[in-house]
Amino acid sequence: MTALSEILKSRIKTQGPINVADYMVEALMHPDHGYYTQRVVFGAQGDFITAPEISQMFGEMIALSLGQAWMAQGRPKDAIFVELGPGRGTLMLDMLRSAAAIPGFGQLPVHLVESSTKLRQIQVHALPQAEHHTDVLSLPNVPIFLVANEFLDALPIRQFWRTKHAWEECLVGLAGDTLGFGRAAPQNFDFLKHRIKDTVQGNLIEYCPSLSHIISNISHGIKQNGGAALLIDYGDWRSKGSTLQAVSNHKVVSPLDAPGEVDVTAHVDFEAVYKAVPPAISSRLTPQGVFLERLGLTQRAKVLAKKLEGKALESHVAAHRRLSHPDEMGNLFKVIGIAPQADYLPAGLDI
Ligand SMILES: C[S@@+](CC[C@H](N)C(=O)[O-])C[C@H]1O[C@@H](n2cnc3c(N)ncnc32)[C@H](O)[C@@H]1O
Repeated sequence: MTALSEILKSRIKTQGPINVADYMVEALMHPDHGYYTQRVVFGAQGDFITAPEISQMFGEMIALSLGQAWMAQGRPKDAIFVELGPGRGTLMLDMLRSAAAIPGFGQLPVHLVESSTKLRQIQVHALPQAEHHTDVLSLPNVPIFLVANEFLDALPIRQFWRTKHAWEECLVGLAGDTLGFGRAAPQNFDFLKHRIKDTVQGNLIEYCPSLSHIISNISHGIKQNGGAALLIDYGDWRSKGSTLQAVSNHKVVSPLDAPGEVDVTAHVDFEAVYKAVPPAISSRLTPQGVFLERLGLTQRAKVLAKKLEGKALESHVAAHRRLSHPDEMGNLFKVIGIAPQADYLPAGLDI
């Protein structure tokens, strides 16, 4: 039992069950007990390891990709870097180091969108020059060169179970003295109308309420002011089945067992991302391994390997494999790019 599970149980006792999105918000961002508000969770010592924490090469490839889009768009001087959910700031630091090789690019101002106050403090320390935002809405109206790695999977999702003609929303309630899943009475939802055709009774689907708002906001800004975005995450085309999961100490655990102490995420529905991009342009959904190799990951890995030996060399070779091999992150993680027009897409992606 965690402090947060006690808080949630007493809330549910008095106010009734909550939906999965409300549960995720509390589990991740509760001001005192949320997973991202109380601990530093990344890296080999943390609960999970993200691509930028595996190797500096990830940030270097992102800088190359966005740098090419910046040059193709005439090197706009008023452009800014934006990162959504920057964690410890590792990706932005690696990017900036590489971006410095492109005159004018590495000096662009940095804007970070972060909702965890604890992580914000760490980011201020790592990137003192950066300006912070809690929401994409307050980003300035200038060309943005944006990256979001493992950000969309932390956005809260709702889950719905298909009945004959409607949907029962999955809820978190009480099962005796512990938290348990249940379902609300069947209802029709306008935002799920398009899913009646491709589902049958008994199917479970997921819907992320904030996803289209965030993507559409970024895309409109890019269409209007120029810029480009790279969104990298695990997920697939159109949600079907539950992908709600929790990870603790590099192991998968039940999402209800220890709220606040485990990372709770869901796979990204990339179809929903695509639908929110127009009038800007999106790239083809590209596996992370293909994207990184197109940008020259192997050549870069060989250059870095020359300076290494022993354990350091072994872990460098393992990191290269982990980022790009189809059996590791190479296929599970996907990349989509957003640009004002097709020839301004970030390098490594196509239409
Ligand atoms: C899994 S971490 C990824 C960190 C980093 N991008 C990396 O690759 O190592 C998710 C990040 O998104 C932030 N985050 C989650 N939900 C958010 C939201 N709604 N608004 C802003 N930041 C959010 C978290 O606090 C954290 O910094």
